[in-house]
Parts: sequence; structure tokens; C-alpha cells
Amino acid sequence: MERYDILVVGELNVDLILNRLPSLPVEGKEILAEDMTLTLGSSSAIFASNAAVLGNKVAFLGKVGNDSFADLVITSLQNKGVNTNHIIKSKSEQTGATIVLNYGEDRAMVTYAGAMETLSVSDISEDVLIKARHLHVSSIFLQPALKQGLISLFSKAKNLGLTTSIDMQWDPDEKWEVDLEKLLPLTDVFLPNEAELLALTSTKNIDDAIETVRPYINTLALKMGNKGSRGVQGNEDVFVKPWLNKNVVDAIGAGDSFNAGFITKYLEGFSLNECLKYGNLAGAVNTTGAGGTGAFVSLKEFRKTALDRFGVKY
Ligand SMILES: Nc1ncnc2c1ncn2[C@@H]1O[C@H](COP(=O)(O)OP(=O)(O)O)[C@@H](O)[C@H]1O
Ligand SMILES: [Mg+2]
Repeated sequence: MERYDILVVGELNVDLILNRLPSLPVEGKEILAEDMTLTLGSSSAIFASNAAVLGNKVAFLGKVGNDSFADLVITSLQNKGVNTNHIIKSKSEQTGATIVLNYGEDRAMVTYAGAMETLSVSDISEDVLIKARHLHVSSIFLQPALKQGLISLFSKAKNLGLTTSIDMQWDPDEKWEVDLEKLLPLTDVFLPNEAELLALTSTKNIDDAIETVRPYINTLALKMGNKGSRGVQGNEDVFVKPWLNKNVVDAIGAGDSFNAGFITKYLEGFSLNECLKYGNLAGAVNTTGAGGTGAFVSLKEFRKTALDRFGVKY
């Protein structure tokens, strides 16, 4: 039987990025962009690609349409060595897309979610789960059908002996309806950023937020942007400084790359401190290239960037 280190369950879409606009668009008028990129989008896909580059055997389970965007998504994942056999092609829905309008430091985005909205736990069979050592789920608020069945998915995974992680990401509706008491005990690694943890716990400072989730968590890995990261596990509570990049190309996907680094070391059995360090390094390397996957070409290149830019040897 084929085995995976990580099964990623999550959203898939393309990003159509329009750069160098003369202004943001105005109703009723047309403007011209001077530059355009059509590329693999979605947090889950960035995580999967970069976890594969860092040396894990990764398979993806998600839902796309039966269209050319789907081909782009699938080919891009395959190019990074991600197994795409479990991606479902819906006949009645379209692949999601995000149009990104970059104007100077400002950006406006429009997303059509498409097929990701109907991916549900019934699409994830036990036969697929048992092939994996670890289950990672991301972006639950973009996937309402999946979110509904999350606790049953995580219970099933735990019963089958998998370890689990989740990066819930931002809730566009800002309702933050998650049963943390039930979900977090089934989650081995919980990977929010500071804003998300505050919103999820309806608290105003991080220490209160951590106290709120402490009774339910196994491992918390909290992402703190250019301040680094903090980990909480049992009685341990550690802060790890970032490898600060002062020439950030962009921070798109830094959190997903952090997740990929953290989970890589977690699956190798390393300490909380080591996992946070490698997460920080992956986040920092992410910021040296365009988009979420630009800086992750191969493990060799990753190590070279780590050494050349941050003086770290791995
Ligand atoms: N300017 C930076 N220099 C170095 N590392 C960074 C920088 N920005 C982010 N990181 C790293 O990437 C991780 C994730 O970034 P963050 O912005 O917190 O996540 P998210 O994208 O989920 O909001 C951080 O914890 C940090 O380790
Ligand atoms: Mg994030």
C-alpha cells in the first residue's frame, strides 16, 4: 500500500494577480495592468507544496471543477511532488479563483470559492486516511461543508492512529463559530496566528487567549509575523525569535510555510523548540521569494537560501 507522511485536506484555487495598476479600479471605467501572473493559490496548496519540498511524502484531498483552472492546480501540485490522486473533479462546480489587484502597497481581492465549498467529510474515506501518518486541515471557514464534519473527521483520524494539525485561517464572516472544547483535544498541533487566536477566543490579549485554549490544546504553535513564534505544550511555554528578513519580497504564504516547517520536524519527533525554529526558518525563507511557493524550489535550494540569507545550516 502506498503511504503518505501527510494527507492535506483543504481548499484549492488559482490566483490571478494583476500588478502595476495605475490606480485601483473605479466603477464604470477600465484600467490596464502592466503585469499579470496566473498561479496556484490557496493556503492548503502552499502548505502541501512546501511540505513536499521539505522532504515529506504529501497527498492532497480537495475539490476542483472540471476546467482548465483545475488542470493548472493539479499540474502545479504534481510539479512539487504532491500526490493528486485524491483530488475530486466536480462536474457541476467550477474551480475557485482569486483575482488579486495590486496597487502600490494596497491590494484588493475578489474570490469565487467554487467547488471547495461543497467538499465534505463524506468525500474522505477511511481507505485514504489509513494511508497517512498525519492529517493537516486548513482554511475551514472557506469550506462550510467540511467545517460541519470536522469533529467527526478528526475523531476518525485519531482512531485510525494519525496525528492531526489545523490552521483554521481567517473567517471572512468574522463569526468564528468553532467548538474549540471538542476540536482542540483531537488536534495534535494547532497553528493559528495572533489575530486569529484573539478572534477565536474573543479576547484582547494573547496571554488571555492562551489561557482560554490551554485546557483543550495538545501543542499550540502561535505565529507572530516578524516577531517570530511561541509554542505551548504541557508546562512548556517558549518563544522563538525569527530570522528576520529586512528585504521582504512579500509575506504571502509565510504562515503556511511556517506550518510546513513545523510539521516536518514534529513528524521527525523533534522538541517543541526545534519545531518552532524550523517553522520560523521556513517562514523567513518564504519571504525571500514571490508568493507562497516561489522560494521553495527544492530542499537543496531551501538549504542554500537558509545559509546565504540567514546564516543557518540545516
Ligand atoms: N519579515 C519576516 N522575517 C522573517 N520571518 C518572518 C517574517 N514575517 C513572517 N515570518 C515568519 O513566518 C511566520 C508566519 O508568518 P505570519 O505572518 O505570522 O503568519 P500568517 O501568514 O498565518 O499570518 C512567522 O511566525 C515568522 O516565523
Ligand atoms: Mg495564516
